[in-house]
Amino acid sequence: MNKNEKIVFPPRYNCYEREGWHLLYDPLNVVWIRVNRDGMIILEALKQEGTIANAGGYLAKQFPLETIETIEKIVGAYVANLANIGFLHPVEYRQKKWRHNYQDVPSDIYLMMTHQCNLKCVYCYNDADREQFRQMDETEPEMSKDQYLQFFEDAAALGVERILFTGGEPLLNPFTLEAARYVRQLGLKVEIITNGLMVTEANAAEMAETFDYISISLDSFKPETHEKMRGKRTHQRVLGSILLLKEKGATVRVNSVITGNNVGEIPETWKYAVEELKCDSYTPSLYAPGSSDPEAWELLPEMETLWKEKKRAGQVLNKVPAVVTKTSSLRFSCGIANGEIGIAYDGSVYPCHLLHKPELKCGNLKEKRLGEILEKSELMSRLRTFHIDQNQQCRECDFRYLCGGGCLAMTYNIHGNFYENRHLYCQYLKEEHLERMWTMTVSDIAGRNTIEKVQHGR
Ligand SMILES: C[S@@+](CC[C@H](N)C(=O)[O-])C[C@H]1O[C@@H](n2cnc3c(N)ncnc32)[C@H](O)[C@@H]1O
Ligand code: SF4
Ligand code: SF4
Repeated sequence: MNKNEKIVFPPRYNCYEREGWHLLYDPLNVVWIRVNRDGMIILEALKQEGTIANAGGYLAKQFPLETIETIEKIVGAYVANLANIGFLHPVEYRQKKWRHNYQDVPSDIYLMMTHQCNLKCVYCYNDADREQFRQMDETEPEMSKDQYLQFFEDAAALGVERILFTGGEPLLNPFTLEAARYVRQLGLKVEIITNGLMVTEANAAEMAETFDYISISLDSFKPETHEKMRGKRTHQRVLGSILLLKEKGATVRVNSVITGNNVGEIPETWKYAVEELKCDSYTPSLYAPGSSDPEAWELLPEMETLWKEKKRAGQVLNKVPAVVTKTSSLRFSCGIANGEIGIAYDGSVYPCHLLHKPELKCGNLKEKRLGEILEKSELMSRLRTFHIDQNQQCRECDFRYLCGGGCLAMTYNIHGNFYENRHLYCQYLKEEHLERMWTMTVSDIAGRNTIEKVQHGR
């Protein structure tokens, strides 16, 4: 690198401080670095003086014990590293051009095998749709077996990767297990999301063998908390099902819907699921209100508590919780119509499994093949190419390309459109991304007067 070349900083960057470290974040290019006090001294000199040579001269006056050659060398290596990462720029700032990379075919399809259920959980998003389902029962017949098989073959041929059998309670449909076996033979991954009440000695071994993953809903390790949300006498039965499936060799994920009732029990439920029940993973899923009705919002947990509890989970489990991952990729949308779509029991195709709404129906598998719906539905292609910069509030947010804008189903349920976002969880989402940036900075160059820890997003 030429020492007389102008070194350019991002036109705008944020600086956060923690325990003697500084995290500098360029939100336009989504690049961040973590530097120590010495690193900051070099950066400040560079910002003031413009070139490596001038910054070296300036620092030589501040640190007379070093020769100017030594200092220039240190500054040169430092700048080269930060330029390589993409934080500093020789001559002029190079802004990255982002490509959306959306897929024509979703990787995941949530297939609702029935809308009927043997429970009536307080938060269930299906509940909001019950009236619609009741009307559909009268007008829309379920898909026939042949129509299902055609759909599975089409999904496999198009390159769909995974079918998630859900509902209602998917095990209420006697065809579910046979269908899953068929899909698996076609080479796709198969998962089931179940409340666990219909797992028995008779079907557990077959379930364990058929499904790559079995997701079971357990809202708390405490019976009273779980039953407050999912109904009386359900806790013990779910535990029995989980143990039975584990005994048969199944891969089991425990899923909890997080509301104000169980937010304080996340770490203990997580520990219980993984250590006592020997489950393979645990997912705390945030409650998604099914409508803008204030009553539906009462169940939401306090954002502050949610954040604290997720952090506490790391200590209780003695490991970093999923919220702070070691990898990060850019997100321009939540995956609606792109990473996933939803299909109702009557064959109606929707852009998301949380948005089975009449006005968002993209077609029906009883009338058209999957490929045609994916290709021809104007709504599907509009949502597939949805970009966070189309969202009025998110467009201004420094964390937008890391966040992707949160759940668009929530946005739609509040505003009735996808383009506004007064997301309740923004503060939480921003803190989460910042925390992730701090944790993702890893040791890079060790040495005097150089940054010690630096990393960047891709
Ligand atoms: C609709 S259920 C269907 C499968 C099965 N009946 C069960 O409860 O696991 C699918 C998943 O969505 C979760 N769920 C239901 N309503 C929700 C909501 N409003 N917000 C977030 N997750 C919800 C359930 O706990 C379950 O894990
Ligand atoms: S068991 Fe599943 S589908 Fe049934 S009410 Fe509960 S969350 Fe909804
Ligand atoms: S944190 Fe909030 S405002 Fe920022 S991108 Fe995410 S949803 Fe949008």
